[in-house]
Amino acid sequence: MTNNLPMITGIGYAIPTKVVTNNDLTTLYDTSDEWIYSRTGIKERHLFKNDAEAFELLEKAARQAINNAGIDVEDIDLIIAATSMPVQMMPTISCTAQRLLGIKRNIPAFDFSVACSGFVYGLDIANAYIRSGIYKNILILTFDNCSRYLDWTDRRTSILFGDGIGAAVVSAGEENDILAIDIKADGHVGDYITLPVPHGNCPFVETNDDKQILAMKGQDVYKFVANIIPNYITDTILAQNNIDSDTVDYLILHQANQRIIKAVQERLNYTDDKVISNIEYLGNTSASSILIAMGEAIKQGKVKTPSKAIICGFGAGMCWGGGVIRLREGVFRKENIF
Ligand code: UT7
Repeated sequence: MTNNLPMITGIGYAIPTKVVTNNDLTTLYDTSDEWIYSRTGIKERHLFKNDAEAFELLEKAARQAINNAGIDVEDIDLIIAATSMPVQMMPTISCTAQRLLGIKRNIPAFDFSVACSGFVYGLDIANAYIRSGIYKNILILTFDNCSRYLDWTDRRTSILFGDGIGAAVVSAGEENDILAIDIKADGHVGDYITLPVPHGNCPFVETNDDKQILAMKGQDVYKFVANIIPNYITDTILAQNNIDSDTVDYLILHQANQRIIKAVQERLNYTDDKVISNIEYLGNTSASSILIAMGEAIKQGKVKTPSKAIICGFGAGMCWGGGVIRLREGVFRKENIF
């Protein structure tokens, strides 16, 4: 028996209370609930009302995951945070979480940026560290404050995204919960989704007037994802790991567009009860969408534990990644919602 197998022992999530409906967006530009819902499946999204709430929810999601894992904050020996749209660049989100949780030890903590693929990349990093024996309890955080980086005069992008936070604890143990995991990137089509960083006022170099605003070539992204993701799940995630889709209980995809979720569902020939979607009332929460969907679905009884789920994230980079994970009993407990 090895003690270096990755066990997903706890998950947590937090959603802001401020709700913006499609009808609210009609006051900003020419759009309609019908257009947005029929193209995306989205009816409303939740936004952090301020930075203080974002940090409060970061701590809440992290504590949920740690409590579900049944460990103390001091047992965490690495914090990693997937964030491409943080509240601040420094201190990092992972270091901020270390402070908020009151962790006294000088454990390592770092952020990484892969947009909507954040949770899957985080799980891949945790998998490698746990199997190598370097760390025993890794806290993965996903934190994207999308609303901060959107142009709220642009009806093509600002309809899509919402804010939210996810958390997971991966611990070294005797059972393997990561049955398949893979990450990919194609930087040649990086211009499909961009978020430039403006220059400051350095007088010694050429500066630019770029705005720190997310822009997306929606149709290109849609085609890219629709071409790649269904095959990627069936061939790379399932077939290469000798996993029969019928032996997996749930599909928990990045919540980018209900039509993409439907396309993957049809490819896998899954019935509706196997497919988890909350895009209707949360929109696309970027790195957090898979963890939020997972936690919520367990809370609502849509996902039973123990069970197995296909996960897959995709987005800016372009980056994508997927896996099959075991959802063990107790990974998310209603009594730990606070
Ligand atoms: O998380 C990262 C991954 N992201 C994704 O997977 C997103 C993938 N892309 C999409 O889901 C879709 O491309 C969107 C939902 C973003 C957009 O749908 P679309 O069918 O690709 O629309 P479009 O951008 O091609 O626009 C079609 C028309 C345009 O009108 P014209 O120029 O043809 O006259 C737009 O101006 O729809 C218009 N339009 C809108 N109309 C009403 C665009 N946005 C809106 C809007 N309301 N909000």
